[in-house]
Amino acid sequence: MSEPKALIRPDRGEDAIAIHLVNKDGYDTFAKGLTAGQRAALAAQKFDGSGYQVGIVPDGDSWFAVGGVANPESLSSWCLAKLAEELPEGVYRVATTDPGSAMFGWITGQYRFARYKNDDKAPAPRILVTTQVGQIDAATAEAESECLVRDLVNTPPEDMGPAALEAECERLAKVHKADLTVVRGDALEQGYPMVHAVGRAAARHHAPRLMHLVWGDAADPVLAIVGKGVCFDSGGLNIKPGAGIRLMKKDMGGAAHALALAGLVMGAGLKVRLHLLIPAVENAVSGNAFRPGDVLQSRKGLTVEIDNTDAEGRLILGDALTRASEEDPDLIVDFATLTGAARVALGPDLPALMARRDETADAFLAAGKAHDDAGWRLPLHEPYREYLASDVADMANSANNPFAGASVAGLFLDRFVGEGIDWVHYDTFAWSPVSKPGRARGGRGLGLRASWHAIRARYGQ
Ligand code: BES
Ligand code: ZN
Ligand code: ZN
Repeated sequence: MSEPKALIRPDRGEDAIAIHLVNKDGYDTFAKGLTAGQRAALAAQKFDGSGYQVGIVPDGDSWFAVGGVANPESLSSWCLAKLAEELPEGVYRVATTDPGSAMFGWITGQYRFARYKNDDKAPAPRILVTTQVGQIDAATAEAESECLVRDLVNTPPEDMGPAALEAECERLAKVHKADLTVVRGDALEQGYPMVHAVGRAAARHHAPRLMHLVWGDAADPVLAIVGKGVCFDSGGLNIKPGAGIRLMKKDMGGAAHALALAGLVMGAGLKVRLHLLIPAVENAVSGNAFRPGDVLQSRKGLTVEIDNTDAEGRLILGDALTRASEEDPDLIVDFATLTGAARVALGPDLPALMARRDETADAFLAAGKAHDDAGWRLPLHEPYREYLASDVADMANSANNPFAGASVAGLFLDRFVGEGIDWVHYDTFAWSPVSKPGRARGGRGLGLRASWHAIRARYGQ
């Protein structure tokens, strides 16, 4: 990844290559202002103003660029992404409008994950200068946090185990002068029995743990952010088949979202008392793995019968949500790659959002729409609670029917969130299966910008 901080700079009147943005409807008018030679050059590049097209236009001894966008007056986050990807190294400015939210795509369009490529020839950065100086830092912080999610998710599981997630939390704590406590070993077994049970089968260097970062003024309202850190999900003894296991390095995607969001909250100095809770485990197969039929104790005191060891995320989150609830929070937000059912229902572009309060759900949905990170609400439908009944324990960890899997997982989590607490749960895919401008195939934030803007609006000064 190139250093994102430098990709957008204040315009100091230097020679920057102009980028003109047009759409199909406006292309003929735009072309009338060009010379015959310039029109011919664009025709040779098959440029007609369609979305994401990139054209180079000779201009005397120099050249300028044109980009096809849907609406040149109102740019989406991705309008500049293809240009940032395809234009040669250089310094650019948008001639036709302010880049605004398209700054995000300018940066994420240049994201690459090359840590394991020996022969990598990283393209030199393409710099955007803008007179919207006041927006540069916020847009850069947001894009950087997105790139952090991608880096964490893309890193192979041997190198992104619980210890690596701990190191990320440590880095974050250092940058923002937050307090970090890491619970492991006997203390984990006592305090977070479900985190321990899920993670205990992993090799020693991937031992389970719970990271708890605290930041901000104790007098401010408590915001708790929780993320599923299953660094690899084999399914456990209910082992996943080949196709299902292939992408399970991304099962710590919720933790990546939580870390990134916490970074944004602290970076902006929001008036909150932040609690970031990340249970980190590998769901591994081994002689001491937890089993279907086992009954786990939980931090809350509820007993949970294991119906399926592949429904592990809700177990580790259950204990973390209990801990979060102990702080009398104003709001809890959790992120988790929790169910295949959410992906079946909504596909890879739309994270499923569940919430107790309609106003809170609406605020998050609206923020997502406004910032090119739309989600879709699924219900916490009370009658489905009975799907989690157990003959021997207080509840089971999965249902023995194929219905409403994402909602049922949400209802499981709900049991561990303190009564009356405002709570938002994101069941996110954390992955782009195909590359689109600004969204390379691989790890991806889904629900990150929505929740960031909703939280900023809620607690912003
Ligand atoms: N990590 C998976 C969910 C998942 C699978 C997310 C594929 C994204 C893509 C989770 O731990 C899991 O395996 N859930 C099971 C639950 C079931 C056993 C009740 C699922 O969704 O199949
Ligand atoms: Zn699983
Ligand atoms: Zn999982």
